[in-house]
Amino acid sequence: MKIFSGIRPSGQIHLGNYLGAIKQWIDLQKENECVFSIVDLHAITTPYDPKELKKDILNTAIIYLAAGVDPDKSIIFVQSRVQEHSELAWLFETITPMGELNRMTQFKEKSKENKDYINSGLLNYPVLMTADILLYKADAVPVGKDQEQHLELTRTIAKKFNQKFGDTFKEPKSLILKEGAKIMSLTDPKRKMSKSDDKKSYISLFDSPEEITKKIMSATTDSGKEVKYNITKKPGISNLLTIYSLLSNQTTQEIEKMFVKKSYSEFKKSLAEVVVNYLEPFRRKQKEFSAREIYVEEILNQGKSKALVIAQETIQEVRSKMGLS
Ligand code: TYM
Repeated sequence: MKIFSGIRPSGQIHLGNYLGAIKQWIDLQKENECVFSIVDLHAITTPYDPKELKKDILNTAIIYLAAGVDPDKSIIFVQSRVQEHSELAWLFETITPMGELNRMTQFKEKSKENKDYINSGLLNYPVLMTADILLYKADAVPVGKDQEQHLELTRTIAKKFNQKFGDTFKEPKSLILKEGAKIMSLTDPKRKMSKSDDKKSYISLFDSPEEITKKIMSATTDSGKEVKYNITKKPGISNLLTIYSLLSNQTTQEIEKMFVKKSYSEFKKSLAEVVVNYLEPFRRKQKEFSAREIYVEEILNQGKSKALVIAQETIQEVRSKMGLS
């Protein structure tokens, strides 16, 4: 399969991004043609600082590498360095009904969060995302649950294009995990874990052991005492159980058994250990890659060259089918 996915380089990459998306990438790259982008053009649709963005782009590349994305197997590149993304987005905008964009949940949420920053880029964001995916003619897109609606639109646009201009694109499926597709905030387990929330609400992949322990120990739990998975009655404990299960490769039932007659605090202490140990190699590799910026830039340059070859071919085909050249 051809696989495409990406993450916005905006702030810290957290455990939700890892468990919902990156962890899938690492498995998929073993047997598929994978393209993973640092989608900086998406990051500028919400308020940002240009100086920070530059750093975040490099840091996101380091995260991909530290988490195990292998540049010999997968293409890793920065979206804005392959201009075909913007061009294809524009071409797709001309066949995307406004109504489809207006009803996008993420647009509504982000507009509410940033009332002074409701720009047309934010509205058109899913069209750019469609261009990202279809430029590489991807069969499948590994993402968290929050991106499903955007993927539906991607399929709609692919279908529309094919109907209007002839068979060109596959309708890519979304790869959304059963567990981990929606990791919740540590401080408000009814909301998803998000980079734009308070630092206490998420675990960044590079948090220190002390920070991780502190955040988990103070995570919001529920009334009652039992460590039991029950998403409606115990959303806090259930979220922590999901994280525990995914990082320790045990089922939630097995973990529940380990904590029968034990307190929330004992459970959290054990979870903190699991998370600290799991993320230890990430912190180590992050330090290594941060000291080798030139090497990381080289990987991004090579990724760009490889991505360009595919992107240019698709753009030529689209231009020609649309009567532009
Ligand atoms: P972004 O940067 O918000 O998130 C990156 C990936 O992490 C997933 N994710 C989560 N998964 C589980 N639990 C959570 N709490 C959680 N929060 C985020 C997201 O679903 C995503 O897979 N629009 C995309 C970026 C993008 C993209 C693309 C993705 C642009 N073009 C093309 C795939 C293909 C976004 O904002 O992701």
